[in-house]
Amino acid sequence: MKALILSGGKGTRLRPLTYTGAKQLVPVANKPILWYGIEGIIAAGITEIGIIISPETGEEVKNLTGNGDYFGAKITYILQEQPAGLAHAVKVAQPFLGDSPFIMYLGDNLIESQLNQFVERFKQQQLDGLILLRSVPNPTAFGVAVVDDQGRVLQLVEKPKVPPSNLALVGVYFFDKTIHEAISQIQPSARGELEITDAIQQLINNQKKVEACTLEGWWLDTGKKDDLLSANQIILDSCIIYDVQGEVDENSHILGRVKVGKGTKLVNCSVRGPVIIGENCYLENCFIGPYSSVANKVTLIDAEIEHSVILSEAKIIGINQRIVDTVIGRRATLSTAPQRPKALRFMIGDDSQIELA
Ligand code: TTP
Repeated sequence: MKALILSGGKGTRLRPLTYTGAKQLVPVANKPILWYGIEGIIAAGITEIGIIISPETGEEVKNLTGNGDYFGAKITYILQEQPAGLAHAVKVAQPFLGDSPFIMYLGDNLIESQLNQFVERFKQQQLDGLILLRSVPNPTAFGVAVVDDQGRVLQLVEKPKVPPSNLALVGVYFFDKTIHEAISQIQPSARGELEITDAIQQLINNQKKVEACTLEGWWLDTGKKDDLLSANQIILDSCIIYDVQGEVDENSHILGRVKVGKGTKLVNCSVRGPVIIGENCYLENCFIGPYSSVANKVTLIDAEIEHSVILSEAKIIGINQRIVDTVIGRRATLSTAPQRPKALRFMIGDDSQIELA
């Protein structure tokens, strides 16, 4: 079995971060989202992985993730010239996939469940397609499935006005080679994309065996800021253990599960876990509250943050109010002006969001 991870796309919902980088490389607990997917796939025993990349962010994905040696896998990069849909990505990947069954994994999705159980079911039942579903409170925003009591998928509807169920399609799918024929039989949707939901519906119309498993654990699609913060919270909760490698002065207090990387210095700081602070950071007179991730080479002076993600080389200096529910991009600077008049001065990128209290 092979794996296909989709790491192309536009990433419009995570702008401005995605103007300068791939959304799949945005870190959750200081690790790129994409890498959780890679590790989950390898843990299920699949080591031949194709990654779909876009012309805009492909090089960055390749440079950071490498050829797979680091993970113990073989990674092949597949360029999709246009983000023409999830089924289009499968079409582009056909030379890599050949006739092999494969798992398709959206590179910005995270799920709690291990993949082994689904791989087993897919193989044992000799299915043409296996989809994962999760009950959601707002099914109108998702692809929704109608399933019979044996777990057979009867129908899929994309963003239904009147949802036939509350079961949304999760971004992890299992396909046999029959999906390629189904994709060749569908047309682009109204938004001009070859939709994977249409391809799966085509499989069903072709009398192929498509079943569904319902996820009990969490599922996160990190395409938006709040989802990213939720993912960060859940991963910090489940993965962080106390491991302080940096230098912590005697006036600093560390409470709970906190990870501090090499070369980082904490002066007169209070840190309340779960928190991860990367390498070569400098923190002075700061409070770092629960569910915060601070990437490498960040400077925080006279600042308080909580439930926030600060990306590498950002600087926050002298902000008198606590910063919460915030994502700060790479190399961004937030500081108070030394000169009068005391006024707010901004240099804000396109599509940024600022809320002043
Ligand atoms: P989406 O999040 O549905 O699409 P997007 O990346 O264009 O994001 P946005 O809606 O914010 O503009 O895509 C899910 C995943 O699949 C994501 O990791 C990007 C990837 N993808 C591709 O690789 N190729 C494609 O053609 C599309 C549409 C998405």
